Amino acid sequence: MDETTPGAADGGRRTADGNSIRLTVNGTRHTLDGHPAARLLDVLRERFGLTGAKEGCGEGECGACAVLVNGRLVNACLIPVGQLDGAAVTTIEGLGPAGAARLAPLQEAMLAEGGTQCGICTPGMVMAAHALLVKIPRPSLDDVREALAGNLCRCTGYTAIYHAILKTASASPLDAAPQPPLAPASQSPLSPGGRGEGAHRWTRPRSLAEALQAMANENAPPTPIAGGTDLMVLLQMQALPPAHFLDLWGLDELRGIEVQAAQTILGALTTYAEVAEHPHLRAAYPLLVQAARVSGGWAVQNRGTIGGNIMNASPAADTPPALIAYGAQVEFASARGRRWMPYAALHTGYKQMRRQPDELLTRIALPVPAAPPTGHFYRKVGPRRAQAISRVCFAGIARWAKNVLAEARIGLASVAPTVVEARHTAAYLQGRHRAQIDLAEARAVLEHEISPIDDVRSTAAYRRRVAGNLLEQFLAETH
Ligand SMILES: Cc1cc2nc3c(=O)[nH]c(=O)nc-3n(C[C@H](O)[C@H](O)[C@H](O)COP(=O)(O)OP(=O)(O)OC[C@H]3O[C@@H](n4cnc5c(N)ncnc54)[C@H](O)[C@@H]3O)c2cc1C
Ligand code: FES
Ligand code: FES
Repeated sequence: MDETTPGAADGGRRTADGNSIRLTVNGTRHTLDGHPAARLLDVLRERFGLTGAKEGCGEGECGACAVLVNGRLVNACLIPVGQLDGAAVTTIEGLGPAGAARLAPLQEAMLAEGGTQCGICTPGMVMAAHALLVKIPRPSLDDVREALAGNLCRCTGYTAIYHAILKTASASPLDAAPQPPLAPASQSPLSPGGRGEGAHRWTRPRSLAEALQAMANENAPPTPIAGGTDLMVLLQMQALPPAHFLDLWGLDELRGIEVQAAQTILGALTTYAEVAEHPHLRAAYPLLVQAARVSGGWAVQNRGTIGGNIMNASPAADTPPALIAYGAQVEFASARGRRWMPYAALHTGYKQMRRQPDELLTRIALPVPAAPPTGHFYRKVGPRRAQAISRVCFAGIARWAKNVLAEARIGLASVAPTVVEARHTAAYLQGRHRAQIDLAEARAVLEHEISPIDDVRSTAAYRRRVAGNLLEQFLAETH
C-alpha cells in the first residue's frame, strides 16, 4: 500500500514507500513526486509549463482546464495526480500535427470561424470538440451541444464555435493518432502544498482487501475518494479538514458492469459515461442512462461514479431517483463481511446513511423485474440541461395493462432532506384505470409525502407544484 507521510522533510508530498507517479504527457514519459492530492492542472502548468489548460472556475464547472486522460475528456482541476499512475495525458499542446509547429484542423477552424476572442475557454473547447469527433466523427448539432455542455464561453457566443466543429467534421476525419512527444517547457518544481494538500494523507490500496483493512484499522477511518468530482471541489475550496484519503480509483474489483439472468451488477466505480455507453443498460434501464447523461458535462461524466453519487448523499443527486424506480440494491463491504440492502432504505436523514464507518460501497444491483415495465419516465427540472443542480428530479416506471396501472415505482430528488420513494402515491395509483385517476387527488397524495424547502435555488411551493406536474406528465407519457 502506498501512503503519504505528512510532516516528512518534503512537507508530506512523497509517497511513503518512495513510489512515484509515472505517466506520459503528450507522449513524453515523466515521473512525479508531488503530493497525490495535487491537481493535474497545477502540475501541467507549474511543473511542465504547459499553460494551455486554463483555470476558470477551479470547480469542474467551466471546462477551461479540459485535457484528455487515456483518451477521455476530463477537467484537470478535478484530477488528483495520485490517480494518474500509468496514465497518458494529452493537453492542447499535444494536439497539433506530429512534429509540426502548426495548429490542428480544429484549432484552424476555430480561428477561421471566429470561434475565439479572449481565448480563455478555447483550449478546453478544442479538447472537448476533439473528444467528440473521436467518438462521433460526423456529429449532429445536438451532439455538439451535448459534448460541449460542460464548456463555458463568455465572449464569443456558441454558434461560431459549433460551426467550427461541424466544419472540421465535414472536412476530413480527425487524426486521433498518438501525439508527438513534447519537451517540457519548464521543470520548475511543484509549489509545496500550494492549495493546502500537504495537510492531507493519501493511501493507495492495491486491492479491495487492503482498502477494507485500511477502513478497519484506523481509529478514524479514512475518507474514500473515487472520481473526486465532489471531493476535489471541496479540497479546492479548502472546505475539508485535514483528511486521510483512501484512493479507490485503481481498484478493479470495484469496476465493471455484469449482466446476469436475474440482475445487472454495477461496480461502485462505474462512471456515468460507462453507464451511458452500455448497450444493456440503455435497453433495460433507460432512466439510469438518462440520469447519467444529464449529470454534468462529458468531463464530469468520465470521472463521476454511481458509487460516489450515492455516498455523497445529496438529496439533489440525479441517479438515485432512477435507482429507486428500478428497486436497486446496494452492497457494502468491510473487513467483517458483506451485506446487501435496498437502496431506498439507505438514507435516514440529510447526509445520514445506514452505513457503518468501516464500510465501503462495493456494488449496485439492478434487478430484472418479474414483469417488465411498459413505460419509463425521467425528468430533471433545472435552470439548464447540463451542469445544473435540479430543482426537482422525477423518475418513474409504470406497467400499464389495458389502461390499468398494474405497477408503478417513483423516486424524486430535491424535494426532501433525502431522495424520496413516493410509495403512497404509487399505492394510490396502482390498480386504477387511467380514466378513473383523479389527478388532483393523486397530486395531493404526492404533495403529502414530500417536504421541500425554500432555498437559493427554488421555493418549496414551486417544487411542490413541479412535482405534481411531473406526476401528471408521468401518467400521460407512459403507456
Ligand atoms: C461540474 C460538476 C457537475 C456535477 N453535476 C452533477 C449532476 O448534474 N448531478 C449529480 O447528481 N451530481 C453532479 N455532480 C456531483 C458529482 O459529480 C457526483 O456526485 C458524482 O457521482 C460523485 O462521484 P465521484 O466518484 O466523483 O465521488 P467522490 O468525489 O470521489 O466521492 C463522493 C463521496 O462519496 C464517497 N465515496 C465515493 N465512493 C465510495 C465508496 N465506494 N464507498 C464509500 N464511500 C464512497 C466519498 O468519500 C465522498 O464522500 C457534479 C459535480 C461537478 C463538479
Ligand atoms: S477550471 Fe473550470 S472546469 Fe476546471
Ligand atoms: S473566447 Fe473568451 S471565454 Fe470564450
